[in-house]
Amino acid sequence: MRLLGLAAALGVLVRSGAAIDLVLEDEESVKSAAATIAFGLVKYYTGNNTGDTPGNLPDPYFWWEAGAMFGTLIDYWALTGDDSYNNITTQAILHQATENGDFMPANQTRTLGNDDQGFWGMAALSAAENNYPNPPSDQPQWLALAQSLFNQYASRWDETTCGGGLRWQIFTFNNGYNYKNSISNGCFFNIAARLARYTGNETYAEWASKIWTWQETVGLISADYHVHDGTNINLTDNTCTAVDKNEWTYNSGIFLHGAAVMYNHTNGSSTWRERVDGLLAAAQATFFTNNSVMVEQLCEPAGVCDNDQRSFKGYLTRWLAGTTQMAPHTAGPIRALLAADATAAAKACVGNPGAPAFKGHAGTACGFRWDDAAVGGGFDGSAGVGEQMNALSAVMYTLVTSSKAAAPLTADTGGTSKGNPAGKAHQPGGVESESESEISVGERVAAGFVTSAIALGVVAGCAFVIS
Ligand SMILES: *[C@@H]1O[C@H](CO)[C@@H](O)[C@H](O)[C@H]1NC(C)=O
Ligand SMILES: *[C@@H]1O[C@H](CO)[C@@H](O)[C@H](O)[C@H]1NC(C)=O
Ligand SMILES: *[C@@H]1O[C@H](CO)[C@@H](O)[C@H](O)[C@H]1NC(C)=O
Ligand SMILES: *[C@@H]1O[C@H](CO)[C@@H](O)[C@H](O)[C@H]1NC(C)=O
Ligand SMILES: *[C@@H]1O[C@H](CO)[C@@H](O)[C@H](O)[C@H]1NC(C)=O
Ligand SMILES: *[C@@H]1O[C@H](CO)[C@@H](O)[C@H](O)[C@H]1NC(C)=O
Ligand SMILES: *[C@@H]1O[C@H](CO)[C@@H](O)[C@H](O)[C@H]1NC(C)=O
Ligand SMILES: *[C@@H]1O[C@H](CO)[C@@H](O)[C@H](O)[C@H]1NC(C)=O
Repeated sequence: MRLLGLAAALGVLVRSGAAIDLVLEDEESVKSAAATIAFGLVKYYTGNNTGDTPGNLPDPYFWWEAGAMFGTLIDYWALTGDDSYNNITTQAILHQATENGDFMPANQTRTLGNDDQGFWGMAALSAAENNYPNPPSDQPQWLALAQSLFNQYASRWDETTCGGGLRWQIFTFNNGYNYKNSISNGCFFNIAARLARYTGNETYAEWASKIWTWQETVGLISADYHVHDGTNINLTDNTCTAVDKNEWTYNSGIFLHGAAVMYNHTNGSSTWRERVDGLLAAAQATFFTNNSVMVEQLCEPAGVCDNDQRSFKGYLTRWLAGTTQMAPHTAGPIRALLAADATAAAKACVGNPGAPAFKGHAGTACGFRWDDAAVGGGFDGSAGVGEQMNALSAVMYTLVTSSKAAAPLTADTGGTSKGNPAGKAHQPGGVESESESEISVGERVAAGFVTSAIALGVVAGCAFVIS
């Protein structure tokens, strides 16, 4: 409660024209900077307005990115103590979980991919791990929501093609159904590892190992720990030999963090340690410039990242920070990366694009590029939910490594969220029984655009289906 007035107080500071003032050694300075950036982020959200739908971001942002945003806001609360956004966060997650508690809202099912669901499921799991206030007892509970998603994923594991793995899309009528990608399997892996640690149930750990092995076998994690985007199923022989080798920050991050959780869960196994260290080295070599600033290397230098891609750097930041808690030997090198990023990102939060692009405090819109050399420091003209969320992540996650932020809880160390290991794997009467013929030509064409791009190896799995 103490922090409720912070955003307002900061308004005064920034209206005087100052850039965001960030002193990494000073926890209050970090929290103030995070509050200013978070204020600008949440201003994009309209779902709590009368007549709007809780949990949805306005166009052009897809459903999954809202899940990612609320996951970020849960961590924001956990790290700063500022509960200004807890009400809208709880409302959004429960609304999108629906009364079925499965993150399969009917409004989204026609375009729903396993990865889209994953970002909402990981938000619920973060809530459980941080003892974020529990929902009323007649509502779905955080841990149970993550377990329900785990059960859905396990039921969709497909050994008829490529020897296993999750497909990108859930429904046969969506193009992308024949693509098995790292982010979908990464969501499953990350959630399985964290559920193993949280609950102590070894079934989850066994799944995490199985998913990892499949990723390696099919070539989506290389011998030197680069994480590739995905692979198309060959419909003639059901193998997966054509790997799209594009590398995105979030794919490396989601496996790095999950591997660190497994390292921790196994009390420091040398196998998982080697994986953690390998993934970290590959991520550092691929996604960081020599001055330690993160770059979405596939599209950022050319200025062609789409809306989805412009949010990925924030997730790698989140998972790097989480890795330091689970595998403390990584804290030194990761702290250096996070510190450099926070400083660079805060310097990019000096934009003034004005409404409707940005409705936060004047002069605090965050740009996409943090690389000083590229933009000479400052705002690169690109503002939006992704840019704002990336910068918030860059700044606030330094609190994980600089202060004594508590490690995520487990059921044994004080976590209070109620689980349900038998939670729903299937949706009674849901869209899984919907016939393909009900899908309009228009919808197919929209989805088809994305798939041809994948077939050409152009954009690959970050292109969530547009409808
Ligand atoms: C929606 O939430 C924001 C952030 O908490 C708040 O400032 C705003 O007043 C809320 N809008 C409505 C209509 O309640
Ligand atoms: C959150 O909701 C509670 C209960 O309705 C209310 O008392 C509180 O003021 C709200 N907090 C914010 C920050 O909107
Ligand atoms: C689905 O859309 C309707 C109409 O816009 C809205 O009232 C409802 O809240 C939405 N449901 C979910 C779970 O988003
Ligand atoms: C698919 O499999 C068939 C049969 O093994 C093979 O002839 C064909 O070249 C494969 N297609 C691709 C794109 O790899
Ligand atoms: C890790 O250590 C704890 C506490 O000593 C023990 O209960 C647990 O069984 C160990 N786990 C593994 C996988 O060795
Ligand atoms: C597991 O995480 C805890 C909490 O951060 C940490 O204290 C412990 O050292 C970690 N275990 C290993 C084997 O690194
Ligand atoms: C980073 O430094 C190495 C060796 O000093 C150099 O070969 C490489 O080109 C540099 N990379 C970038 C992106 O500047
Ligand atoms: C462990 O998890 C599995 C998989 O969800 C579940 O079937 C089993 O009931 C769980 N065991 C316990 C003791 O909760």
